[in-house]
Amino acid sequence: MANDRGYGFATWTSFIEESQIRALLKFSVKYYFAGGKPGIIPTDIFADIMADLSVKYKENPAMALDDLNYGPTGGQTWFLKTLAKRLCDVRKIPINCEDEWDRVSITNGSQQALYALLDTLIDPGDVILTPSPAYLGFLVPAVKLGARVITIPTDNEGIIPEFVERAIHLSKINFGKTPDLLYVVPDSDNPKGTTLSMKRRRALFDICENHNILLLEDSAYAEIQFKPNPKPIKTLDKENTRVAYLGTSSKEAAVLRVGYSVLPVNVREQVLKDKGYLDLCTTTLVQRILDEYYRKYIDQAMKVGIPLYKKRYEAMAKAMDEFFPDGTRTDPTGGFFIWWQSAKPDFDSSEFMQRVAIPNELLYVPGGPFYPITGYTVSSNGKELETSVPEPNTMRLGFSYASPEIISEGIERLGKLLSTELG
Ligand SMILES: Cc1ncc(COP(=O)(O)O)c(C=O)c1O
Repeated sequence: MANDRGYGFATWTSFIEESQIRALLKFSVKYYFAGGKPGIIPTDIFADIMADLSVKYKENPAMALDDLNYGPTGGQTWFLKTLAKRLCDVRKIPINCEDEWDRVSITNGSQQALYALLDTLIDPGDVILTPSPAYLGFLVPAVKLGARVITIPTDNEGIIPEFVERAIHLSKINFGKTPDLLYVVPDSDNPKGTTLSMKRRRALFDICENHNILLLEDSAYAEIQFKPNPKPIKTLDKENTRVAYLGTSSKEAAVLRVGYSVLPVNVREQVLKDKGYLDLCTTTLVQRILDEYYRKYIDQAMKVGIPLYKKRYEAMAKAMDEFFPDGTRTDPTGGFFIWWQSAKPDFDSSEFMQRVAIPNELLYVPGGPFYPITGYTVSSNGKELETSVPEPNTMRLGFSYASPEIISEGIERLGKLLSTELG
């Protein structure tokens, strides 16, 4: 495709837009409820780690030379061992952390793992399954790579397994293909904030086993939980053949761009091959910093951080219940987000944000981008595939970044503006 300068841009550039969340980062407002930005980062701990490291590097230039150098694509051995131990001890992932630490790999954020997984699994026309709505950082690359996305209805417990069964059946009938991938965020999903029960986790695992589908378990919010959660789906995958398990340091440590994963062996090989060409390797220095954090500090940091996130959630939920007009909200037990849907189907939260919210110093993410720009969904009777259409009367409200006081004030303001608009 030629543009006015004659450059032949790839076709995808004409139909994929800048990430809506990235686009919203440029607005600076008083009441920020948009991106999933952590507002509670143990900065003291990271300052101490970096101070200690600078002393160590002065004393030991050979270590400094290694840490400031290229490293293995899948991550440094010492860091993978640390992550393996935490995944065994805390998340109960079924690997032997003494001698199976090499099942863990790291990527530049879990975003890179999502992209590389899609990149290595999807040929144009292949089918993938996601919840409706779903994390846009997964949806958009899927569409970019030519996947046919079938979105699955969700309720207050997340994706509904019976509809997954129907979608697989309908994919075979309509496209002659079994889906390659089912994507879920089981703990406090992005964007709805819902958590899958153990019954549903087991049902999804069984469905993927029966139909030979890779289950992509994105556990971005697994550590940010206000009460104990069901075990990861990965705990059911004793042979490490069915579930690609992703975690990230972004929400539970700091945004140093390190994601970690436990992938079936053949999937891991392909993902690391891809990563080798995407970025060669992840910066060793950040692995060193995070290695210290995961070995010594994470428990104390979570003990402080989680109750603070819970307070923010409570402030948001309370103000929504008091000041929002008719509609429904989700009731998350962790994570960063509440999802709200107006009772009025013709309300357009995106238009309202530009016209009313931003001039009033308020930012959220309108619900539209969490639906694929082209794709299908399973009809409510489960009998056919329909074109997927966004629900414009929805919004994702993030409680992770602003203080409880700002949240109470801002949600009251937003609720009153919405009430004026919607009567
Ligand atoms: C569900 C989910 N997965 C993955 C990511 C990407 O995280 P990162 O690339 O920072 O590890 C995010 C970020 O918000 C997310 O919400």
